[in-house]
Amino acid sequence: MKFALLKEAADDESRVALIPETVGRLARNHSISVQSGAGTPARFTDDSYGDVGADSVPDAAAALNDAEVLPLIGAPIADTIAALKPGAVVVGMFQARANPDLLESLANQGVTTFSMELIPRIARAQRADVLSSQASLAGYKAVLMAADTMGKFLPMMMTAAGTIPPAHVLILGAGVAGLQAIATARRLGAVVEAFDVRSVVKEQVESLGAKFVESDSGDAQEVGGYARELTEDDQERQRQLIAEHAATSDAVITTAQIPNRPAPLLLTEAAVDGMRPGSVIVDLAAESGGNCALTKVGETVNHNGVLIIGPRNVPSSMPYHASQMYSRNLAALFELIIGDDGLTLDFSDEVVRKSCVTHDGRVVLDDQDSLIPVEGTTSG
Ligand code: NAI
Repeated sequence: MKFALLKEAADDESRVALIPETVGRLARNHSISVQSGAGTPARFTDDSYGDVGADSVPDAAAALNDAEVLPLIGAPIADTIAALKPGAVVVGMFQARANPDLLESLANQGVTTFSMELIPRIARAQRADVLSSQASLAGYKAVLMAADTMGKFLPMMMTAAGTIPPAHVLILGAGVAGLQAIATARRLGAVVEAFDVRSVVKEQVESLGAKFVESDSGDAQEVGGYARELTEDDQERQRQLIAEHAATSDAVITTAQIPNRPAPLLLTEAAVDGMRPGSVIVDLAAESGGNCALTKVGETVNHNGVLIIGPRNVPSSMPYHASQMYSRNLAALFELIIGDDGLTLDFSDEVVRKSCVTHDGRVVLDDQDSLIPVEGTTSG
């Protein structure tokens, strides 16, 4: 099959969908056209793709000529969609539920689209889990942002100029990003506390050397492993508990999310008022509404000396490893949908079916069961 690798369309995107390692494997059975400069922002040179068997072409139009598979990070522009032939496969992190117009255009072009964030989080599909790979990078980077901003050491320092106590870091939300943030802050020597509404994570938090902040609201884990939204009463008690712990923290890293809902509000303005000047909040939930009432996406707010960082697209700020992990996630999906001789779209496999959002001229996001062929027909 013919793959096209393009430079990402979004200005703030430094990742590239495929790194040379993956391209080299694909090049054994397929041809890959790489737009010149596609990997440059992620530190992968044109030569590094050429060395593993890809063709370097000057622009996107040349790469897309006759392309059958288009791996992407984010949404393609209209010209890219228009250049695709019907039946081609497009794969990326399209936030499909929030982008109905994009899905409509891809369906109208007759392409089959897979949106990686929809891959079911089952053991068999872990290698393709982009939510985990990218969240893990974000959790790590959030601690570095806090460390770089707070004007203090994280570890305890015993120096000739006196002893400096370790920094206190509070992590809110101990999912994939939060656990990585805990591990990173611990490695840097901070004293770490963490809070989550899913009490099952207590053991994981403690195994990383952090203290679990206990709440009396009970467990809020749903079937599937995610958190459910709390009642207003529970949320209020939780916010008070968090405010007490934030008041003694040098950095608060917030990572709490509820699938398909705005991020829960955990730090109120009053809680920020109670924090010491010089403290830092890094709100990793900024793009989905924020865990802190004062967060502004893409900005750093100074509230009475407390800095509130609301970063956008954190994985893109570590493009080399973010691309490496993403590229390996894509390779795991390709194993399921691409054989040596062409596409093998087996929609009876839930990983393939549940991540497919357009096929055969239709948006199938909420109609994926229709992809399973009824006996005596084909799925196209
Ligand atoms: P996420 O990004 O949806 O949420 C992050 C964290 O925020 C979660 O731990 C959640 O409990 C927490 N949270 C939500 N509301 C909160 C509140 N009001 N206060 C404090 N914390 C709050 O979740 P993520 O990190 O993507 O994954 C969460 C879980 O999903 C994992 O821990 C695991 O159980 C499951 N999972 C399963 C995988 C698999 O089996 N392949 C892979 C990855 C995750």
